[in-house]
Amino acid sequence: MKQLIEKLALNRRLSHQEWTALLSLRTPEDELYARNLARRECERIYGRDVYLRGLVEISSYCKNDCNYCGLRRSNADCERYRLNQNEILECCREGHKLGFRTFVMQGGEDMWFSDDRLEAIVRAVRAEFPDSAITLSVGERSAESYKRLYAAGANRYLLRHETADAAHYSLLHPASMSLENRKSCLYTLKSIGFQVGAGIMVGSPGQSAETIAADMEFMAELQPHMVGIGPFLPHHATPYRDMPAGGLNDTLFIVALTRLMLPDALIPATTALATLDPSGRELGLLSGANVIMPNLSPADVRSKYLLYDNKRSFGSEAAQSLKLIEATLAAIGRRACMARGDHISIQTGKEQHK
Ligand code: 5AD
Repeated sequence: MKQLIEKLALNRRLSHQEWTALLSLRTPEDELYARNLARRECERIYGRDVYLRGLVEISSYCKNDCNYCGLRRSNADCERYRLNQNEILECCREGHKLGFRTFVMQGGEDMWFSDDRLEAIVRAVRAEFPDSAITLSVGERSAESYKRLYAAGANRYLLRHETADAAHYSLLHPASMSLENRKSCLYTLKSIGFQVGAGIMVGSPGQSAETIAADMEFMAELQPHMVGIGPFLPHHATPYRDMPAGGLNDTLFIVALTRLMLPDALIPATTALATLDPSGRELGLLSGANVIMPNLSPADVRSKYLLYDNKRSFGSEAAQSLKLIEATLAAIGRRACMARGDHISIQTGKEQHK
């Protein structure tokens, strides 16, 4: 297995058989080997810097009914909210004062955010913060919509593919959603010029070595600039309430393999990882991750934006806790970097955009 891990680090690709072998046969020792290699690879390219992005959770309304997600439409047991333009700008102002230069606006697929409204919001943020990157994470929209948002000043778009196996995708999602459309959104976003983020949950019901192999192969083809990977965590008001959470070591292993496959990707140590284990975020950063996304949402809505139970959003998950964040990073030999931190291309060593 060590040979396969080295092969991945060297060629950035494995065959389908090699992926399934590595994913199903690796030992805890192989996992540690991959994680250390990934950490060195990350430090080779990004040094000690960990990029910080301020997360603004703009809406907990969602028209979809995904089986894993606490924001699913049929969950009646949650208080819904949405932020208006001014509230979103206020979050960005606070973040900008704290030093953040990337704002991630994330929300459920909330139709209130029509193209007109969302475009106006992006324009307003762009006008007030010309030095900051704007990342959107608001789900599947039309190509036309994505174009307007890009033209209004958005730079990046996070849309996890969730799984690249069609049968697994159908198991996790309502019949109204398809893997085909998901992939098509990602390719469209990329062709428009967005830096795109894909990704998966580790340990989602129905996941297997085969489906993760498909994920890795899909990401090798898409070449996303960012990859979000966190453990699946059950939410009490979803059909998956009794399913086990994804494993810590499993998640760290997939983070590491992703770093080895996409050496210059921006990979967050996710809130789900920090929720799964008190040291999850630090372990993620020591296994190939190089981004954290502290929460900038108004304090009173944080407990309403619950994709899974027990979500961490205060303490070191809060954007306001910069001192604490800096100290925890220093303890693992890293430092907080507030620069926009655009995706770098290792071919040219130059920023890819703007
Ligand atoms: N556990 C972990 N991650 C989840 N997400 C949604 N629901 C859950 C859950 N129960 C992830 C999805 C989505 C991202 C915003 O959060 O991968 O793309």
